[in-house]
Amino acid sequence: MKIGLLTSGGDCPGLNAVIRGAVLNGIISHDDEFVGFRNGWRGVVEADFEEIVRHDVRGLSKQGGTILGSSRTNPFEGEGGGPENIQRMLDDNGIDAIIAIGGEGTLTAARRLVDEGGINVVGVPKTIDNDLAATDYSFGFDTAVQIATEAIDRLRTTADSHGRCMVVEVMGRHVGWIALHSGMAGGAHAILIPEQPKTIDEICEWVESVVDRGRAPLVVVAEGFTLEGMSEAHSHKGLDAFGRPRLGGIGELLAPMIEERTGIESRETVLGHIQRGGAPSAFDRVLATRLGMAAVSAVHDQAWGQMVSLRGTDIEVVSLQEATGALNHVPASRYDEAKILFG
Ligand code: F6P
Repeated sequence: MKIGLLTSGGDCPGLNAVIRGAVLNGIISHDDEFVGFRNGWRGVVEADFEEIVRHDVRGLSKQGGTILGSSRTNPFEGEGGGPENIQRMLDDNGIDAIIAIGGEGTLTAARRLVDEGGINVVGVPKTIDNDLAATDYSFGFDTAVQIATEAIDRLRTTADSHGRCMVVEVMGRHVGWIALHSGMAGGAHAILIPEQPKTIDEICEWVESVVDRGRAPLVVVAEGFTLEGMSEAHSHKGLDAFGRPRLGGIGELLAPMIEERTGIESRETVLGHIQRGGAPSAFDRVLATRLGMAAVSAVHDQAWGQMVSLRGTDIEVVSLQEATGALNHVPASRYDEAKILFG
């Protein structure tokens, strides 16, 4: 078969390992041919692709980013967009199926292309936030947690030296998995996540109790966290200086508020895209490779509209509908468990 690969949405450590796993399994097990669409769905809409041969994936599993490039293009928009145009482009170039590697937006588009146009698409979940339902973990999350944990460990020594409160903002637009895991791993005194809004008074109480115990407080906050009782207009949300929706910024809001209310000197650190850069962890390399290999098997099983997924230690196939229907939120029980450690 001739299979087209694409990576779409925000990049994520492990994307290249998926590509390598898919290409090696396809070539070795099935004698497949591969092309890579450039810059996500944009490459599909613009028929912009290149051949990928075995030599191209040599040493790729440890490389961060994506050799194919990425974008947030919607395949239903633009001149070559929509199921009919895409099917024609695939037929013209003898491409039998697409493996779409992406997050919620990418996989929703993939599902629509299958449902509305009968396009042969199989999905691979990608999210550093770990916000996709129907997979226990996605590659990229483990790497992001390791990077955030290392940053927390480093911030702790400078916090202790100065007796300051450190506020560390990590990624997590809709869910708080990176904050929860890095906060637990790094021994944070408070973890603030989108699923659990808190008032500034509650946060300050935690911070003061840490100081009372003779420690320098360390607060980990997910970028999507909302302060309870604060209006949108006065929060970090809204538009940035260029008119783009502001994603982060809660750390910069919280640290001065804590300092003002408690008198405890506070500093904020926003980790930002550092969490998405560089080489994937060994766990992510293995997971991404297995998902890529399984996606090729799914193509040969004609599992259109399905996504490969990690369930326990097994790679399974689930419907894209299930995967895109709801987000994978941090359950209250997991938060309560971590909260015992703040005390
Ligand atoms: O969804 C992954 C993610 O890294 C979020 O955690 C973050 O809010 C967003 O992407 C950032 O997007 P961009 O790279 O477009 O600024």
